Amino acid sequence: MQLATIIKAQDTLGPMSAKRSNAPTLLDCERVSKIYHGRQGPVIALEEIDLTVPRGEFLSVVGPSGCGKTTLLNLVAGLERVTGGRLSVSGEVLNAPLTDVGIVFQDATLMDWRTVLDNVMLQVEVRRLPVEPYRARALDLLSNLGLEGFLDAYPSQLSGGMKQRVSIARALVHKPSLLLMDEPFSALDALTRDKLNVDMQALCLAEETTTLFITHSITDAAFLGDRVVVMTPRPGRIAEIIDIDLPRPRPLALRETPQFGEYTGRIRTIFESAGVL
Ligand SMILES: Nc1ncnc2c1ncn2[C@@H]1O[C@H](COP(=O)(O)OP(=O)(O)OP(=O)(O)O)[C@@H](O)[C@H]1O
Ligand SMILES: [Mg+2]
Repeated sequence: MQLATIIKAQDTLGPMSAKRSNAPTLLDCERVSKIYHGRQGPVIALEEIDLTVPRGEFLSVVGPSGCGKTTLLNLVAGLERVTGGRLSVSGEVLNAPLTDVGIVFQDATLMDWRTVLDNVMLQVEVRRLPVEPYRARALDLLSNLGLEGFLDAYPSQLSGGMKQRVSIARALVHKPSLLLMDEPFSALDALTRDKLNVDMQALCLAEETTTLFITHSITDAAFLGDRVVVMTPRPGRIAEIIDIDLPRPRPLALRETPQFGEYTGRIRTIFESAGVL
């Protein structure tokens, strides 16, 4: 299905918050803390994080550099262990890397010697999933991401934005319950970033994946998020969780409206009072 069709199909939907109000919990953090023990002594990266994320939610996390955003993502992915509190996914306390997950990093991290389609299919091969149905899904995702004409291209032939689109398709091809994104658009120019914001929204609405989207950008956080978690400077705590009660699909022009400005203004005020801005 093309993005335009997906957006049209979503035209009648209200805010995702209305849809998710009865959804079961996917991710639960109870007083989660993380202390690293380095050469310079202990570093408190995260302190007493309380967070409940229902299935299907798009949750943005915004905060200054060093406040523990990547640490939070690594804990949720099971790549790091909590040092305090309890973190569970689908009701199970995590004690190994999560497998039902897709991750998008700041850099696309594609295999230079594999084509676009083969980079996406790598996820399927590593997981030993049946090739045919997942190949069809990979083609569908790449088409929805505007890459249908580049299936046989190599990463060196793609722009930064296109590479990031491939990594998004790779992260979603196996239908993970949870999509983790760590500043996926930060290396992109403003126009490419805007387009990806719109396409990402359409994709997430169509896929109904639960998404944890980490960003430095107040605008991206509010545009994409059902809620925005605003973090304090280190040690990272949650300053506030803001419900973004704006209907979807959200057009880019929404960012120019007073309602949107109220949300971004509120986040900015939190950062100002924490001495970040
Ligand atoms: N493996 C580690 N060992 C020791 N300290 C670490 C380790 N990983 C992160 N830290 C520290 O924990 C804090 C949080 O780091 P983290 O990378 O989570 O921040 P961040 O919010 O993602 O920052 P940025 O926005 O710059 O990516 C930082 O002070 C960092 O130096
Ligand atoms: Mg980080």
